[in-house]
Amino acid sequence: MSRVQTKYVCQSCAYESPRWIGKCPNCDEWNTFVEEITDRSKPSKSKQSSIIKNVSAPVPLVDVKVADEPRTSTRIPEFDRVLGGGIVAGSVVLIGGDPGIGKSTLMMQMAAALTDTVVLYITGEESVNQIKLRSERLEKKPSNNLLLLAETSLHVIDALLEKAQPDLIIVDSIQTMYRPELESAPGTVSQVREATALFMRYAKSKGTPVFLVGHVTKDGLIAGPKVVEHMVDTVLQFEGEQHYAYRILRAIKNRFGSTNEIGIFEMHNNGLREVTNPSEVFLSQRKSGTSGSAVVASMEGTRPLLLEVQALVAPTSYGVPQRSATGFDSKRLQMLLAVLEKRVGLHVGHYDVFVNVAGGIRAVEPAIDLGMALSIVSSLRDIPVEPQTVAIGEIGLGGEIRTISQIEKRIAEAKKLGFKRILIPKNNLKGSGTNGEVKLIEVDTVDEALRHVIS
Ligand code: TYD
Ligand code: MG
Repeated sequence: MSRVQTKYVCQSCAYESPRWIGKCPNCDEWNTFVEEITDRSKPSKSKQSSIIKNVSAPVPLVDVKVADEPRTSTRIPEFDRVLGGGIVAGSVVLIGGDPGIGKSTLMMQMAAALTDTVVLYITGEESVNQIKLRSERLEKKPSNNLLLLAETSLHVIDALLEKAQPDLIIVDSIQTMYRPELESAPGTVSQVREATALFMRYAKSKGTPVFLVGHVTKDGLIAGPKVVEHMVDTVLQFEGEQHYAYRILRAIKNRFGSTNEIGIFEMHNNGLREVTNPSEVFLSQRKSGTSGSAVVASMEGTRPLLLEVQALVAPTSYGVPQRSATGFDSKRLQMLLAVLEKRVGLHVGHYDVFVNVAGGIRAVEPAIDLGMALSIVSSLRDIPVEPQTVAIGEIGLGGEIRTISQIEKRIAEAKKLGFKRILIPKNNLKGSGTNGEVKLIEVDTVDEALRHVIS
């Protein structure tokens, strides 16, 4: 195989070098050199004319007709929801997540469900035997249309794709694919970028959707360059705690849909199962009558989700008091504690504070502040929060309860699950008071909220 010429380019200032160097002599940045293929050959005359022939002329914007993007369903409604309604032809989707979270399982389930689509599953991580074993665990058995290929050389894959012409491609994982002509090892910036570029080109020229599986580094980034995330159309993140069965599929970037939607799954021994009633599931293990627990209504995209937030406030036995948050932002916890100290007179200086969102869920919405504050106070005083209550509201630095969006949907969800009292921010809703079976209680400050539910 003829070696292609490569060069090393500083990603910070574009300085070029024939060899890899640690520090850029031009901009003094460290570790910025990345191998790139040098291809300075001009296209031949005939190639040029064919390029010109294929070029489309500029068109007035007003004349552009938008047909709705035709979408194919993945046959997994939770997955479709995150994709923005299904798979778009020619789109490239990157699915990131920690090892063992279930990326390959999700891909295999989708491939098995798409019985009338020729799916090419390219595996660089596992042998075809391992894939076969996994697929045998799953409920849905794959059809003859699912083709496996254990290959990592982009050269071979490129040639094969021209012949095979599948309807959909899954690459598991993008970090294992490599171009032998490049000196750098698989998984490095230049290799991952080359691999992504190849699949992007294929997807766009043939209209074939491609799913790329990607690993996540310790810092939570998809390993490889950020540029991969910029290149692809959609970036999905598959997350969850190792010790819980729940898995959340979240869109981080989506050229064809919203990034707010999440898909909720539960890992069983025969694959991932969709969770269609998440609020019920997440509240199912709640013990009412214990202190340090409150129910909040978070919005995940267009869908309300009731969650249990828990706190444990206990005297510090030695040293500096601990502050620990699982599934909740730790800076936000610090802020809530400071507000409680200053506005409510709650002194937690000699206490450890642990907070948790039950079920291994990560809740980032400010609307859960109030419930979190209630559970902290409840734990400190060892008095349970009134059990039939849902708390909705963001807490401001002044201890005020701030209004939040989509309050009606949250209330409807709380009603559906049989809650009797809902704390809501003052003036958030026109016409409050008793709403059917439910009592809506408007609160203006944390202090006021505490008086309603912990006494
Ligand atoms: P996998 O899809 O291989 O994860 P990833 O590709 O993200 O690394 O899933 C790995 C985990 O899921 C593994 O620990 C086994 C577990 N699992 C089940 O619990 N049930 C199943 O049906 C399958 C296929 C996997
Ligand atoms: Mg895998």
